Amino acid sequence: MQHKKRSLSDERSRNPAVDDYDFFARCLQAYGESDLYADIETWRIEDNPYRRPLRPHVFKDLNFQKPLAREELLTSASLTACRTLLTIYESDFVLLPRRDLASKRADMDEFYGRRAQVLGAIVRPWLESYLFGFLDDAISTSGRWTLSSMSEYFESFIAEERRRSDGSMATAILTSEYPQHAARTCLVQLASDFLLESSAMGRNVGGSYGPLQSEMFKILIDELGYGVHRTRHSSLYEGTMESVGLASTPHTYWQFYLTSSLLLNNYYNYVCRNHGRFFRYIGALFQAETTFIEMCRRMADTLRKVFGPGVDVRYFQEHAHINQHRSRMVFDRMILPAVEMFGEGIIPDIVRGFEEGKLLAGIAKQDYLDQVAWSDSSAHWKLLAPAIHRNIEHSREKPKVQRFIEPRGELSVTHVHDGDALCFIQSGILRFVTGHERSVLLHAGEGTVIRRNRLHGALIESEECTYDIHSIGDYEQWLS
Ligand SMILES: [Fe+2]
Ligand SMILES: [Fe+2]
Repeated sequence: MQHKKRSLSDERSRNPAVDDYDFFARCLQAYGESDLYADIETWRIEDNPYRRPLRPHVFKDLNFQKPLAREELLTSASLTACRTLLTIYESDFVLLPRRDLASKRADMDEFYGRRAQVLGAIVRPWLESYLFGFLDDAISTSGRWTLSSMSEYFESFIAEERRRSDGSMATAILTSEYPQHAARTCLVQLASDFLLESSAMGRNVGGSYGPLQSEMFKILIDELGYGVHRTRHSSLYEGTMESVGLASTPHTYWQFYLTSSLLLNNYYNYVCRNHGRFFRYIGALFQAETTFIEMCRRMADTLRKVFGPGVDVRYFQEHAHINQHRSRMVFDRMILPAVEMFGEGIIPDIVRGFEEGKLLAGIAKQDYLDQVAWSDSSAHWKLLAPAIHRNIEHSREKPKVQRFIEPRGELSVTHVHDGDALCFIQSGILRFVTGHERSVLLHAGEGTVIRRNRLHGALIESEECTYDIHSIGDYEQWLS
């Protein structure tokens, strides 16, 4: 008689905290039941790192069970998942307001409290799978990798980076109808990560993993300015923000982070929070350090062109300079010794992290370009609205419509729609917002086309405003 040996993991019973989607959904809803995450009446959040509008009222309508597909990464559910996941990740970091802690003490206690910790711990892995599950299919690292094939692969990437002249972000800023707005939008996107720079990386300095650990620590102390506060990288970035009239406290512009900017920021936490992904992280780190060199050089030039000599570009100059060295250092002192020490079996992880970082950075860039282009064309989208509205009125098969009647001062926290929508004003005045200090005023009989996946919010500027949101799918089919 044959006895089949069963492993302990086969016999473990399913546990709701691990496997039960409904249990997760209940925990997510409970997580959202906090004033910290509720809608607010202002666009900016002044010096309070604990308050982050998540639009938790939509949690119950969303399903996070099946991982997003590559083409769904910028949907409404993705934005919600990204905002929530970053909030959970950052509850591991020390975040303190600059002023008046006493009035924010209750917020602090709640942000770091037992309830948020327990619920966050259950919610986090589900949101991670939901957001990053697509990477398994999007990136293949199959085939036999050796130290020399990996080195060749990376060397050719570095050579290509040096030759590359893809300045699409710089070009978008300089050719924008409003270059200063486009530049500030870019700085706001980067701020989600840069004002807390090296926090995700810092998760990797604990533990015990040999000489690599000391190399990791060298990179970290470099990020932290070797203990000199004014030279730490996040301090340099604060200087950049302030020099162009932006607030430098973390997450002041929470509502204006694009889905993809949050996704990229979450990704670095995703690979640093769980140390089973450590080798992926060093691949992603190498990718980021290498591409950052050109990006920073270009950014410094672009900001000077847009804002003049008064703009503080030390952050970008510093990185253009040190990253030459950093990229080499990660390769020679971390990647190569890691493969020597732990074997070629870790190469697919390193390559995977490298490719994942590259893919997500590319998605973030395109999302930014699309948002700037859409925001720049506000006048065009406003012009199209009456004709589209007329066509809807005359059509037999009308799209789904939702009517809103809101009082003065009511603010719709920024969000995205999964298809094109027509916003049309029946009475009153609505300020339609497409970015930080970027908006268009809409009166009765006017409206605008909200393109799919584009971030927007609204503020009522009359005693009352009645407006409709028509889910038109693809706006072009309503033009004739
Ligand atoms: Fe840095
Ligand atoms: Fe909307």
